[in-house]
Amino acid sequence: MKTLFLSILIFTLLPLSFSELCNPSDKKVLLQIKQDFGNPYLLASWKSDTDCCTDWYQVECDSTTNRIISLTIFSGNLSGQIPAAVGDLPYLKTLEFHKLTDVTGPIQPAIAKLTQLTFLRLSWLNLTGSVPDFLSKLKNLTFLDLSFNSLSGSIPSSLSLLQNLDALHLDRNKLTGPIPESFGTFKGKVPWLYLAHNQLSGKIPASLGNLDFEHIELFRNKLEGDASFLFGKNKTTQYIDLSRNLLEFNLSNVVFPTSLTYLDINHNKIFGSLPAELTQLNLQFLNVSYNRLCGQIPVGGKLQSFDYSTYFHNKCLCGAPLESCK
Ligand SMILES: *[C@@H]1O[C@H](CO)[C@@H](O)[C@H](O)[C@H]1NC(C)=O
Ligand SMILES: *[C@@H]1O[C@H](CO)[C@@H](O)[C@H](O)[C@H]1NC(C)=O
Ligand SMILES: *[C@@H]1O[C@H](CO)[C@@H](O)[C@H](O)[C@H]1NC(C)=O
Ligand SMILES: *[C@@H]1O[C@H](CO)[C@@H](O)[C@H](O)[C@H]1NC(C)=O
Ligand SMILES: *[C@@H]1O[C@H](CO)[C@@H](O)[C@H](O)[C@H]1NC(C)=O
Ligand SMILES: *[C@@H]1O[C@H](CO)[C@@H](O)[C@H](O)[C@H]1NC(C)=O
Repeated sequence: MKTLFLSILIFTLLPLSFSELCNPSDKKVLLQIKQDFGNPYLLASWKSDTDCCTDWYQVECDSTTNRIISLTIFSGNLSGQIPAAVGDLPYLKTLEFHKLTDVTGPIQPAIAKLTQLTFLRLSWLNLTGSVPDFLSKLKNLTFLDLSFNSLSGSIPSSLSLLQNLDALHLDRNKLTGPIPESFGTFKGKVPWLYLAHNQLSGKIPASLGNLDFEHIELFRNKLEGDASFLFGKNKTTQYIDLSRNLLEFNLSNVVFPTSLTYLDINHNKIFGSLPAELTQLNLQFLNVSYNRLCGQIPVGGKLQSFDYSTYFHNKCLCGAPLESCK
């Protein structure tokens, strides 16, 4: 009887003596998220009797408003779908679920409510379904990473409405259909574009030639036709990987940006010859193998510093480091 009385006393007094910074609404939502994931060990620091702003891992509160602005859960055992409750953290700027063992299901639709988001990473999970259109409404996004999942369907053209994007990662999924024409109309910033390892098909929209991409990775898709418009004297492009596609164009007259340091076009159907001005570039990496190129490898610059596998399996390329031309 005495102990019962004591515990009642403690339980009534405790909330009064425990003052915390954590916003009660945010705390409720986070505890809901923990419960929805089945109270995993990974979220063991999330306890109702401690302060989410000072004592919890994986979250961060704003220093003035004490509202939750960051939720980053990565590298661990977590299973289930991303709970709808994440949409009820209205001040979130950063949301990350990354490299978790068994997170499945679609991209949670409630994320559409998080209009303050600047950083969204849902990667190395087992997400399925499509890349949702609503992402284009998260106008403040500077970083969007949905890579290493099993997302399918086509890329929504509305993503080009995201004008503050520094990087767009949709690589390593099962995306099909073409690259949207609208991707040539990113206004403001031109994001680093990662679309590799999907099943994208059709021609690369010529509109992409209007943009000055710093970094573009389209490798391991089924893209066909011309890609010469991605290059051009006046661009500041540094990194282009178009390897393992079905691209087919004449390389002879392509003018490369002088800023180019990484060029991989291996395993395509590219023909013509290697332009002499490749010797002018400060290339760190080059691979033109497995194409239909012909003629002499220009002599000079970095071109002879690469080994034969940079050039092999072409129609009739010759000269160092391949066999000399007849
Ligand atoms: C995840 O669970 C497996 C098996 O239950 C265990 O071997 C592994 O250590 C766990 N990993 C982490 C990061 O907790
Ligand atoms: C984007 O950020 C700006 C400045 O940080 C803020 O004023 C604005 O409300 C945000 N936009 C949206 C759609 O939340
Ligand atoms: C999740 O994806 C990884 C990597 O693709 C795979 O090894 C794992 O078996 C998948 N897990 C589930 C539950 O599908
Ligand atoms: C490159 O820029 C110069 C000067 O801005 C311009 O005159 C020229 O037409 C441009 N060349 C190409 C190929 O766009
Ligand atoms: C590629 O373009 C060059 C220069 O215009 C031309 O001389 C050559 O015949 C073309 N190669 C092929 C295979 O069409
Ligand atoms: C170039 O690509 C081919 C085909 O993937 C590969 O076998 C070769 O090792 C690569 N060479 C270099 C230098 O990257």
